[in-house]
Amino acid sequence: METVKEYPKELPLTPMEEEIFRLATPYLQVRDNERHTRDAFEFALRLLERYEGEREVVGLATILHDVGWTALSKEQMSRAWGPSPDMAMLRLHEEAGVETARRILGEVGCDQTVAEKVVAIIDGHDTRTSAHSLDDKVVKDADKLTRYRASFWTIVHLLSIAPDDLARRLEQVMDQWFFLDLSRSMARHELALRRIEVRRL
Ligand SMILES: [Fe+2]
Ligand SMILES: [Fe+2]
Repeated sequence: METVKEYPKELPLTPMEEEIFRLATPYLQVRDNERHTRDAFEFALRLLERYEGEREVVGLATILHDVGWTALSKEQMSRAWGPSPDMAMLRLHEEAGVETARRILGEVGCDQTVAEKVVAIIDGHDTRTSAHSLDDKVVKDADKLTRYRASFWTIVHLLSIAPDDLARRLEQVMDQWFFLDLSRSMARHELALRRIEVRRL
């Protein structure tokens, strides 16, 4: 059976993605963000098999979307996280992320048009409820899908929430959260797997 323990997996990264992941890694060392990022990347690739997004933009935006967390203090971070997050704090990690991502993309000589699209996705990836492009939808959905897989048990432990309750909450928000139909079916599939794991506890 597929379990959350299988992640992170080996990812088929392009040389540019590999280099950017290497530069992003120091900024992903809070909570389980490195694992979360790898998981989101894998979901994004699966969505791109069905939808015609731009791989370069989606790949880089997914790798860099959460590099802003390390700019926040522990206290700010705890206010930004949980069932009712402080939106100002959440916004802070997006703004810091935009700045760090821009610097990293500049460092590797990323094409300016691609870099601007990547940054536009990072800017508002959590606080913006609308998506401005298909690539934006893919990244937003991939980010949320991780809560149904690699981040599920992390959330259970960090929020001291009963796994059954988390599964129920995730099921309730599914229809409003996801932009793409495939994301919704992947979320449903993952949730069924998590429920099997919960029954085995
Ligand atoms: Fe985020
Ligand atoms: Fe994220």
